[in-house]
Amino acid sequence: MAHLLDGSTLADQVKSDVSAALDAWTAEGHRPPYLSVVLVGTNPASEAYVRGKERDAAEVGIETDTIRLEADIAEADLLEQVEDLNADPSVDGLLVQLPLPDHIDDRTVIDAIDPAKDVDGFHPQNLGRLLLGNPSFIPATPYGIVEMLDRAEIDVEGMNAVIVGRSNIVGKPLATLLMQRDRNATVTVCHSRTRNLTAHTREADLLVAAVGRAHFIGADQVQDGAVVIDVGINRVDDDSREKGYRLEGDVDFDAVEPRASYITPVPGGVGLMTRAMLLQNTLTAARQNADA
Ligand code: GUN
Repeated sequence: MAHLLDGSTLADQVKSDVSAALDAWTAEGHRPPYLSVVLVGTNPASEAYVRGKERDAAEVGIETDTIRLEADIAEADLLEQVEDLNADPSVDGLLVQLPLPDHIDDRTVIDAIDPAKDVDGFHPQNLGRLLLGNPSFIPATPYGIVEMLDRAEIDVEGMNAVIVGRSNIVGKPLATLLMQRDRNATVTVCHSRTRNLTAHTREADLLVAAVGRAHFIGADQVQDGAVVIDVGINRVDDDSREKGYRLEGDVDFDAVEPRASYITPVPGGVGLMTRAMLLQNTLTAARQNADA
């Protein structure tokens, strides 16, 4: 039986720490942190994520404004909007919800965000600083994963950490965080072209699944006693649910749980930590903005 890494409890701890730090910040005479969210189009998942961000921010006392733009907006007009928010001193944190419509290049837009306001941590300057061990903003999902491990007092030093998935927003930054000198894991990053994936994952003391395929990791892929972190949030058709789908992770929880020492559930695991770390980054942005 694995210990459950409960995202709800751990994210509540983060939120309560952010809320306390924010109260102390405003008690010093500062205005509350302010987060601008740009949402292009009406992608239902993006709409739901943005609503969640608004709710979370309100809960800890961060002010937000969501700028909703038409799906057919020209890239140049979106860039102009980003420039306006970059120039607005009342905006501490700024994020553009991804994915963007096909006619807009995500990278061009991310590169236009002021790195000092880039609470997603996706700007090359912030990713570069992360690689150097000198971060300002850490992307929220990998940040949430290491925060979760820290709060559960799981020390990864010397562990074989195997990450399945090499994305810019999860796999690559997480590999960087885990191998840093303050964590000292030995990191392997696997991906769709990895030969004999199972040979790698079965060596993992810490296994992180970030592939985006429901139940991709089964019991045979996991070593006894492994710490298993499931980043997947996959919509699986389910007529018995009101919404017509249910959420499933990249890990077959029921099969893997008996083997693991610790495991995150989906929903209720990493996703909640991701949401909480955006709040932490927004507070960091407000502090840096006030110092600048
Ligand atoms: N789309 C899915 N996850 C994210 C995220 O963390 N930030 C942004 N901006 N868009 C996303």
